[in-house]
Amino acid sequence: MDKFLIEGNQPLNGEIKISGSKNAALPVMAAAILTEGETILDNVPRVWDIRTMSFVLRTLGVRVEELNGRLKIIPPKLLHYEAPYELVKTMRASVLVMGPLLAKVKRARVSFPGGCAIGVRPIDLHLKGLAKMGADIAIKDGYVEGYAKTLVGTRICFKNPSVGATENIMMAAVLARGKTYIENAAREPEIVDLANFLNQAGAKIKNAGSKTIEITGVDRLKGIHYKIIPDRIETGTFLIACAATGGNLTVKDTEPENVRSLIDKLQKMGVKISTGDNTITVERKSRLRGVDITTSPYPGFPTDLQPQIMSLLCTCAGSSVVRERIFENRFTHVGELQRMGANIEVQGNRALIKGVHTLNGTSVMASDIRCGAALVIAGLSARGETKISRVYHIDRGYEKIEEKLSAVGARIKRIK
Ligand code: UD1
Repeated sequence: MDKFLIEGNQPLNGEIKISGSKNAALPVMAAAILTEGETILDNVPRVWDIRTMSFVLRTLGVRVEELNGRLKIIPPKLLHYEAPYELVKTMRASVLVMGPLLAKVKRARVSFPGGCAIGVRPIDLHLKGLAKMGADIAIKDGYVEGYAKTLVGTRICFKNPSVGATENIMMAAVLARGKTYIENAAREPEIVDLANFLNQAGAKIKNAGSKTIEITGVDRLKGIHYKIIPDRIETGTFLIACAATGGNLTVKDTEPENVRSLIDKLQKMGVKISTGDNTITVERKSRLRGVDITTSPYPGFPTDLQPQIMSLLCTCAGSSVVRERIFENRFTHVGELQRMGANIEVQGNRALIKGVHTLNGTSVMASDIRCGAALVIAGLSARGETKISRVYHIDRGYEKIEEKLSAVGARIKRIK
């Protein structure tokens, strides 16, 4: 298994190009099976989760070809309808094929995803929504089995906004009979990207990005050529990395508005930030001040940047409180940061961080994608050498992270 070896305490200077969004590309890939004909997706990041989704689609009989960040997806005349345990267990987002399968072939058999490193992560909202549209849903032998003679538009209200459930219902509803309203829908930019893709393919979706989405079913969708939005979490990760190491870094090919909550927090901490149409420049010269962070659904502070910002807060002046309100167990990075000398006390979903002057490099272990990214940031700013194991978690969601960082002055290498 690969490891990262980082020689810390080096400022980051220069430019980094942001890849396409993994979390936008995954549902759009699943949505491509709703179409007739060929879909071409540009700006798809070359990361493991995308490969896993390609495998899932291939087991459904879909042709998927990849060339330099461009995916060609051609659904067959007759789709298979089973997503097996071996794939779903490696990536929960595989459940995103359920809505499209029910809409397109009226049947779905998808392995029930288990818990994961950051929490239980139920899929009850996906299942209740699909059932309300007329699908018979049963859980049998570890699989969710769905059958729907016809899906019918209805009003679905989520108890809390779920990104995956909003996407699954939206994909089921585009080919359903009549109108579907999703209330208390997730408003993440990835939802808007999926709606834009579907609308260009012929769907009728209104108000994606707001709390109530209206979908009018159509008879068919066509394959199209589409470009995935930039990855806001990769963007945020590099901004935080430079705030932690010092230096002057520009991230380009990104969408500044999609990381507004992070920019506001970094500015409050004392980071100098300027934005252009598709660029963000961060500059950090002196020690930063701690701030309090509470994660919440978009446009609030993203849970997917919580571990990374905690790495940064470890060395800020004063105290900071981080509250995690999306996932119940998203503090696996804390123990690793403590090994590097951080002063963090956890009480329930709240972490109190007292700033230390510096972190010290040592051996640490990544337990999920964003925990891994947080450890990379900690290693880049720490004194001495940090060795990160289980880098495969990082490779699930970050394209060539060590190459991008090395190009702006980091001393990071992959060892086999
Ligand atoms: C997506 C992202 C993930 C991100 C998360 C929150 C993808 C592939 N993954 O995950 O990176 O961290 O959004 O921004 O896009 N919930 C339920 N019942 C459900 C579904 C969710 O109670 O049926 C709860 C979850 O436990 C969690 C909250 O809703 O507390 C939000 O989860 P959700 O938005 O669904 O996350 P994902 O779509 O799985």
